[in-house]
Amino acid sequence: MTTLAERTLLIKPSVTLAIAAKAGKLRSQGIDVINFSAGEPDFDTPDRIKAAAIEALKRGMTKYTDVRGIEPLRQAIAQKYLSDYGLRYQMSEILVSCGAKHSLYNLFQAVVNPGDEILVPAPYWVSYADMALLAGGVPKIIQTSEATGFRIGAQQLAKALSSRTRVFVLNSPSNPTGASYEETELMAIAQVLEKHNCLIVTDDIYDKIVYDGFTIRNLATLAPSLRDRIVIVNGVSKSYAMTGWRIGYALGPADIIDAAAKIQSQSTSNPTSIAQAAALEAIQGRQDDVAMMVGEFAKRRNVVVERLNAISGVQCLKPQGAFYVFPNIAAFIGKNVNGKSLTSPCDIADYLLEEAKVAAVPGEDFGSNAHIRLSYATSLENIEEGCRRMRDAFAKIH
Ligand SMILES: Cc1ncc(COP(=O)(O)O)c(C=O)c1O
Repeated sequence: MTTLAERTLLIKPSVTLAIAAKAGKLRSQGIDVINFSAGEPDFDTPDRIKAAAIEALKRGMTKYTDVRGIEPLRQAIAQKYLSDYGLRYQMSEILVSCGAKHSLYNLFQAVVNPGDEILVPAPYWVSYADMALLAGGVPKIIQTSEATGFRIGAQQLAKALSSRTRVFVLNSPSNPTGASYEETELMAIAQVLEKHNCLIVTDDIYDKIVYDGFTIRNLATLAPSLRDRIVIVNGVSKSYAMTGWRIGYALGPADIIDAAAKIQSQSTSNPTSIAQAAALEAIQGRQDDVAMMVGEFAKRRNVVVERLNAISGVQCLKPQGAFYVFPNIAAFIGKNVNGKSLTSPCDIADYLLEEAKVAAVPGEDFGSNAHIRLSYATSLENIEEGCRRMRDAFAKIH
């Protein structure tokens, strides 16, 4: 058998993909599965964005571009951060990559040395921990719960920071909880970070997907003294329904961006040329399509939260952003159904798929043994039907 590099043994295959594969198999057998597992908008990419890509293709924009991304796109990103957050970035401080995931990967490779700690509040997006491990780092998890709205407090952060902390990751709105930080909470967090010399990564990928007038602020705006230690990561996947186009970006101090660009130059080179043209239109063009999608997500959020909380034994917080809910299903763990005992969120997700034909992602991948993640990036009819099915399935557990 081939001997593989040790780093491949450090990381695990995604539970999310395992559930998606099982759901796909059932669907291929003609079984009607309600899919709450997708981490992407169910809307198509807006026509104005597709048209920009087609136009770029016709213009012959089919060659390599600058490794860091075309300048008009980097300018549009700088303009977005100036108008949305009052932050000024130079061209040398912006790197466009093949999705925000790639931006984060480059960044971790650029700044993490073996043994460095990466501080991540849980529940967290699955890839932070594995990317930290691939860079030789040590993920250090800060637990949160419903009691604090799945947000960390300043004191909790102060306790977790140490001289070994290299990076602190803040994701607001969050995947998987949708939790979003208020300005006062960010100010308190900034005060703690001012006393520690670590880098701060803010993953803003859901910054446009917020509800009830919630205002997303960035730490760099609230605490200018931290600006030179903050790297902002964002992208077009979620806000503009462009997951397949693979465009993400990072804004931060020029030396870090230079190092990440060097890594990118030796791995993928530039992100796809015509996808960059599409991303330029996404960010620069009219934003009414974003408002339409967010309006639809808001209606669905209200319904899914209400229906879930009506199920006996399920508790679900109402998130401020993103398109996920993270219901607590701990009441069913340790119980039995169909002669089997349910010992984990994974068992619950398996049971829901088999019994109710509902695909949900178990909490383990996000650092929780008491929750499942449901994406409401699906139609209201699917949400109503899926919740009915889950209600009936949960009622059978004793
Ligand atoms: C919190 C978070 N960050 C980053 C990403 C990566 O997005 P992409 O690589 O599609 O830009 C995702 C996607 O699921 C996410 O949920």
